[in-house]
Amino acid sequence: MANKNGKKRIHPASVAVFPGSFDPLTNGHVDIIERAVAIFGHVVVGVLDNPAKKSLFSEEERVALIKRQFARCQGRVSVVSFSGLLVDFVQSVKSRVVIRGLRAISDFDYEAQMALINRKLVPTVETFFLTAREEHSYISSSVVKQVALLGGDVSVMVPPGVAGALAKKRREKEASSRKR
Ligand code: PNS
Repeated sequence: MANKNGKKRIHPASVAVFPGSFDPLTNGHVDIIERAVAIFGHVVVGVLDNPAKKSLFSEEERVALIKRQFARCQGRVSVVSFSGLLVDFVQSVKSRVVIRGLRAISDFDYEAQMALINRKLVPTVETFFLTAREEHSYISSSVVKQVALLGGDVSVMVPPGVAGALAKKRREKEASSRKR
């Protein structure tokens, strides 16, 4: 709808999208989702389904782990997988806000480039950065996978459901390497 100046009216956002690979969900992600819900009311967690990218957990497993973690937040957190352009996904869920977490300055280069590309593609889509809590700033999905698959304790880095799923993956990998 146009306003009295003939410009298209942009509605305030009440839905934010938190996109990522989530291979797997970490405590850092959980914190960002909870803080984004407190601001926007509803967060759609967009799980990238990219068959070209080798992931430890399948797209279905990643979605299920996040859904289980936020089962108590129905109506405020939804979890949806997407493929293709992020900006198309954001518009498809009637949002115009992308949330990304920043752990360190080193994250900024890549994140700023992604935000600028997304704004070039669709100027109404805005990216909001939330800084990670200090206690989460060392956590990444890659580090968590590496430690867990080598038998290290990741219970302070991921929710209990994810720690259990990682331990299962480790057992499966060990069993399949014994068969070879
Ligand atoms: O958790 P990640 O891997 O850092 O998340 C990256 C993600 C999924 C946000 C990014 O790769 C993405 O948006 N992919 C969709 C493709 C796209 O829109 N690319 C153009 C913007 S770079």
